[in-house]
Amino acid sequence: MQPYLKKESGSAQWMVEGKPFLVLGGEVHNSSASSPEYMEAIWPRLRDLGLNTVLAPIYWELIEPEEGIFDFSLLDSLIGGARSHGLHLIPLWFGTWKNTLSHYVPEWVKTDFARFPRALSAEGRILPSVSCFSGECRRLDARAFAGVMAHIRETDRDGTVIGIQVENETGLLDSPRDYRPEANEAFACPVPEELAAFLRARRGHLAPDLARHLRPESLSGSWREAFGLLAEEAFMAYHTARYVGAVAAAGKREYDIPMFVNAWGVQCPGEPAGIHPSGGPTAQMHDIWRCAAPALDALAADLYLEKFAEECEAYTHLEGNPLVIPEGRPDRWFMAHAFYAYAEHGALCYSPFGIEDAGHLQSPPPGAVVQSIFQTFEGRDTSALIRGTYSILASLSELICQNRGTGKMHGILQGRLMSQTVELTNYYAHISFANFVDRMEIPAGGMILELAENDFLLAGAGYSVRFVPKPETPPHFEYLSIEEGTFVQGRWVRRRRLNGDELHPVLPAEPALLRVRLFGYR
Ligand code: DGJ
Repeated sequence: MQPYLKKESGSAQWMVEGKPFLVLGGEVHNSSASSPEYMEAIWPRLRDLGLNTVLAPIYWELIEPEEGIFDFSLLDSLIGGARSHGLHLIPLWFGTWKNTLSHYVPEWVKTDFARFPRALSAEGRILPSVSCFSGECRRLDARAFAGVMAHIRETDRDGTVIGIQVENETGLLDSPRDYRPEANEAFACPVPEELAAFLRARRGHLAPDLARHLRPESLSGSWREAFGLLAEEAFMAYHTARYVGAVAAAGKREYDIPMFVNAWGVQCPGEPAGIHPSGGPTAQMHDIWRCAAPALDALAADLYLEKFAEECEAYTHLEGNPLVIPEGRPDRWFMAHAFYAYAEHGALCYSPFGIEDAGHLQSPPPGAVVQSIFQTFEGRDTSALIRGTYSILASLSELICQNRGTGKMHGILQGRLMSQTVELTNYYAHISFANFVDRMEIPAGGMILELAENDFLLAGAGYSVRFVPKPETPPHFEYLSIEEGTFVQGRWVRRRRLNGDELHPVLPAEPALLRVRLFGYR
């Protein structure tokens, strides 16, 4: 049975082998997957970190080095490597665009500006990105991607591949829009009626940042009249989404498994398009992407910013868009972000970027070049943190999937405040980070899962909890038990019983799992 996304009202499940699956991911560096030999040293480490899924690029330029001649050997070796290490695989299709640039198109595409025109800046400068108005590139990207999907369908009999990312961080940098003559002509036309009708119907539900600029009464007018300051970005979003949507649809016709795109988001509110990629699937462009690329199952977010909670909120605003984070921070924020995303937003996937570096900054494996262009590891060994967090999440994965969308799962994330209040069914849980601040090497965070009326799981690190009964609940309570332990095949297995000096539940400085049972009385 092939994987798919099951969307229910208010939640979604990534179905793998007919069952909900929690993707505990990790994305390898851009270049690692271009060499099976290089990957050899990496596979066992991924397994050892407790991942169940690896996200790894596949490259159009290496799959179709000569036009019409396809070589799937790298893809085969990735699937084989994942399979033999007990991992699932989500390939990342580095096709026309990767971080907006066309660095991974085959050389016969890269060098032929006449057949595969580049985007132009307002001054006529040739930009390093194929134009989203290049119908020929779109046709051939879609053909290659369809070939990839057909190959996976034919060869991946045991379902190692559970989904695929289409392109990587699309949009246009350094220019608010493409100024090719055909782009100028399209920009001078009224907003296409299909988009205008779609946005009119969604009035009241649109992404807040889009709604602030959109003038719904002007949707029959020009892009400028309808979208004001966001005109260029909205225009680029529509045309980029149509391109990527066509590539995804061609792939789906061959093998219909979950497909998503990832966004390089707006870094500072109000920053002009072109500073962040113009037309990529940022949260403010979600409604336009949904209209123009219906084949996509999810519009995912690469989340590196410290305003993580806000970003999760923004990327789940669009109804039916599950939270998928193909790139997250691999550093000391890992634990807090991962728990928070899964618990508070029912995230289907969390995946720190550059995963193979974890634990190897000081001592790279023989022959490996550690890529430190991305410095969020801050020179720390995060492997124990990743391993500890993923082992707890793996033991809870069934419960997490079952509780998505029920309101019984709550994320905890240390922000600027030293406390957080979580509203449970019968209690308020007052979370305090204060006692840990000096002792913590990592930001505090975690989750609370309500198993039953007086029965809670507390996971994470760096916080203590005080329960306060809600007005309608018996006003007094005592702890029946506080235990440290784990879930094994759906059964709680106690390690330590903590009913002495502990007095109330405390999550230590490293990832832990507690079960807390209360009884209330009048
Ligand atoms: C985001 C991109 O999507 C990744 O491929 C990689 O380039 C990282 N940025 C590096 O920080």
